[in-house]
Amino acid sequence: MTAQMQNAVKNPVLVVDFGGQYTHLVVRRIRELGVYAIVEPFTKLERLDPSSYKAVVLSGSHKSVVSLDPLISEGVHKILYQSRTPVLGICYGHQLIARVLGGAVSKDCGEYGRTRIRVLEEDPLFKGWEMENVVWMSHGDCVDRLPDHAKILALSENGYIAAFKAEINGRPIYGVQFHPEVSHTAKGLILFDNFLRIIEAPRAWTPQAYLSLVLEEAMKELSQTSGKAVAAVSGGVDSAVAAVIAQKAIGSRLIPVFVDHGLFRENESREVLDLLRRVGLDPIYVDARERFISKLEGVVDCEQRRRIIGEEFAKVFDEIMEKEGADTFVQGTIYPDIVESGTHLSEKIKTHHNVAGLPAWFREKYRVVEPLKYLYKDEVRKVGEILGIPHDILARHPFPGPGLAARIVGPFTREKLEICRRASRIIEEVLKNYGLYDKVWQAFAVVGEDKWVGVKGDSRRHGFIVIVRVVESQDAMTADYTKLPYEVLDEISRRITVEIDNVTMVAYAVTTKPPSTIEPC
Ligand code: XMP
Repeated sequence: MTAQMQNAVKNPVLVVDFGGQYTHLVVRRIRELGVYAIVEPFTKLERLDPSSYKAVVLSGSHKSVVSLDPLISEGVHKILYQSRTPVLGICYGHQLIARVLGGAVSKDCGEYGRTRIRVLEEDPLFKGWEMENVVWMSHGDCVDRLPDHAKILALSENGYIAAFKAEINGRPIYGVQFHPEVSHTAKGLILFDNFLRIIEAPRAWTPQAYLSLVLEEAMKELSQTSGKAVAAVSGGVDSAVAAVIAQKAIGSRLIPVFVDHGLFRENESREVLDLLRRVGLDPIYVDARERFISKLEGVVDCEQRRRIIGEEFAKVFDEIMEKEGADTFVQGTIYPDIVESGTHLSEKIKTHHNVAGLPAWFREKYRVVEPLKYLYKDEVRKVGEILGIPHDILARHPFPGPGLAARIVGPFTREKLEICRRASRIIEEVLKNYGLYDKVWQAFAVVGEDKWVGVKGDSRRHGFIVIVRVVESQDAMTADYTKLPYEVLDEISRRITVEIDNVTMVAYAVTTKPPSTIEPC
């Protein structure tokens, strides 16, 4: 690792998580600009030493600053007055700073969605911005008074304080009421870039640099294993990259294992094994299809299914590890898996089988190594490119650990599984034919309980409804449905109803995430 990179990793930008919806996006934006950023929950505020960070960003929250937790207040006071680390407050963070500085925050002065703001003062934070700008607001409270030493930099069209600056201990403290991290704030990235310039952060977080960091950490962790390590590979980008890294670290002591849970798409397990062999991973194939499917049959609750799959995975791998004499387990957990499993402050959205679903006994029995746990998917893909992993693996759509079980609504049945498997394959094929597969994040079929009366070959059929879901996303934390041309939808619909006998209706899912999630289950 270069000296500059070492410094950047030792001295990252800290984003404090107060449970806000966009915290992860702040981290992403900063990393996109070449600066390493990490997130820590506010519950650690007391124990954090602000001087070990290049800057501190206080992010959003669903809570109100009007009734402020004294521990938060003390923690922020320490950051503002007992250090020289620059601070940027966003939304809740903006109000938090104003309040701790001695200003006032009121209730019932919310602004939501696209809002115009007027920049009043020339300041390096707003370099490159117009006088009038459209930003994204999402707040119920607002700052209505600042202490005398703080300067208002911008006002919203409703007259609320949209940005301010204070100087304490010779360094800037900024607050912005809007969300520069969301793409609806057109010049948001410029604002982050300006902030990083103000704090003189070196731009050292390049794909090559973080690959060396990931490798170094993996070497450190894996060198502790005396014997063998088992890597769970599924053919997905994350597990393939994690296994290649682990193989680089310990060579033939790494045993890649592909567990077929029977929840893959059509022909997928064969294709996956071929793909993995091409990157030098020659996994042991374990046929556990019946074990998983028989346990899932009839289970309605999605979370219960996820737990069953997590538990079964652990049991299968436990048996393999015992047999192989391995003491370390390598898996491709990435940062959003951890965030969405609710291990931070954000609410649990889904139990990702590899995180919250992996039972405690397994983590106690084996050393679990997750070399990619601080990376986002696009960062993993960049690491994969540098490692020379072929494009067709890196470009594969993300596929959930619980496989097609995440796409069956209502009781899990073999019939629905089969429909889902075949319909998903058709959707992928059509998108590939139209050159759209690589342009979308995921494309798949969902099968529920609802039926639709149809006519097939002049006779009445009471068939299933298949919902087609095609989304675009950068990191799966938010997503938009793809506006597919009608001819593509038409071909998908025709092929599914012709090729799958017991389907009589195809629908297209047109809801973004949020409020939906990508997978239905
Ligand atoms: P949702 O449905 O929560 O999914 O919007 C976000 C992304 O995560 C994938 N996903 C999973 N990936 N284990 C995984 O490795 C899981 O348990 C899991 N559940 C969902 C999903 O396909 C989407 O890309």
